[in-house]
Amino acid sequence: MKVNNEFYLLIKTVPGLEDIAAMEVKNLLGNVDKIIVRPHGIMGRILVKVSISPFRFCRILNEKAKSIEKVVVLLGMYKVSRTKKGLEDIYEVVKASKFSNFLTPHDSFGVRPSREGKHEYTSLDIGKVGGDAVIDEMKEVYGLRPAVNLKHPSIIIYCDVVGDTCMIGIDTTGDMALHKRGYRVFDHPAALRPTIAYAMIKIANVKEGEILLDPFCGGGTILIEAARLYRSLKIFGLDIFAENIKGAYLNAISAGVAEKIAFIVGDATKLDKIFNINIDKIICNPPYGIRQLRGEKRKEIPRLYDKFLLSASKILADDGLICIITPKKKTIKLAIEKSELQICHEREIYHGGLKAHIFTLKKQK
Ligand SMILES: C[S@@+](CC[C@H](N)C(=O)[O-])C[C@H]1O[C@@H](n2cnc3c(N)ncnc32)[C@H](O)[C@@H]1O
Repeated sequence: MKVNNEFYLLIKTVPGLEDIAAMEVKNLLGNVDKIIVRPHGIMGRILVKVSISPFRFCRILNEKAKSIEKVVVLLGMYKVSRTKKGLEDIYEVVKASKFSNFLTPHDSFGVRPSREGKHEYTSLDIGKVGGDAVIDEMKEVYGLRPAVNLKHPSIIIYCDVVGDTCMIGIDTTGDMALHKRGYRVFDHPAALRPTIAYAMIKIANVKEGEILLDPFCGGGTILIEAARLYRSLKIFGLDIFAENIKGAYLNAISAGVAEKIAFIVGDATKLDKIFNINIDKIICNPPYGIRQLRGEKRKEIPRLYDKFLLSASKILADDGLICIITPKKKTIKLAIEKSELQICHEREIYHGGLKAHIFTLKKQK
């Protein structure tokens, strides 16, 4: 969206983690004019106002940001109907976005439509009317029709309808969203999104020189994200299954950080038998039984959480923190009540279509 030589970047992130993404964006871009978190109440979106070269700012974010999934140069944000008439609205607003300022008739383009909420039309319908609008506007300006290429377009047009808001722009990230880091050679069935792992590391306020442990490390996402962010952390990863530890090690090799992490096959309910040092930060994503894993039974989850928190509190440094994500709010709260820990931060996020809760815990004084 260009207003008096000012552009807005639209950034997509995990719903519930917008503040963390906004902080990272501010740190990476320096003096941005304005950041709007959840514009029009839309979760998982941030608007960033920049006064010059929007594509240069996008490049920085696409190369460096760890908490965001997509960066779009926004050309318009409009209200559209949720009924069938919405398709006419979308045609008009895409046309008004003037893609002819960014596209020549010799470029190919593809519209990537997305939709959240209830509408009397589908994403495919949005893609079709959006494409027609771009072609018609280009024909009016150049008298020529640009080629549509849905597989490998030179310009990807972003057209996202959330409720009654339509956001239109140029997708500068491409089809490989930024949370797909590329180091995952071992695909754990319940792997955490690296963007969420990054956010948990920030929520736990991890600092250089500290000792970090993920006692349910699976494919190692939290450990690898931490190792990529800090130079002098001591990092430990534990999982009860040797095959996961092997996989996490392969992922760490692929990410170039294997020498920074000590991997152990072990039981997270017996941490005090495994570690004879104090741990500053424990960050984890324990099993929750929805995505089935070998050896886990739903009814055993409450016992696992109780025993884990009991043993974790024994090795946690006095000013240490535990940051834990789980969809099992009641179960973890009951386990916290039974432990000698207290909640110091709590938030709700959405991942993989599930609501999950992040709790940060400290020792009771
Ligand atoms: C939700 S997954 C963690 C996924 C991980 N964060 C990732 O990104 O790949 C939970 C992991 O806990 C492990 N686990 C289950 N019970 C355990 C126990 N008692 N001690 C240690 N690890 C356990 C499982 O093998 C599984 O890999």
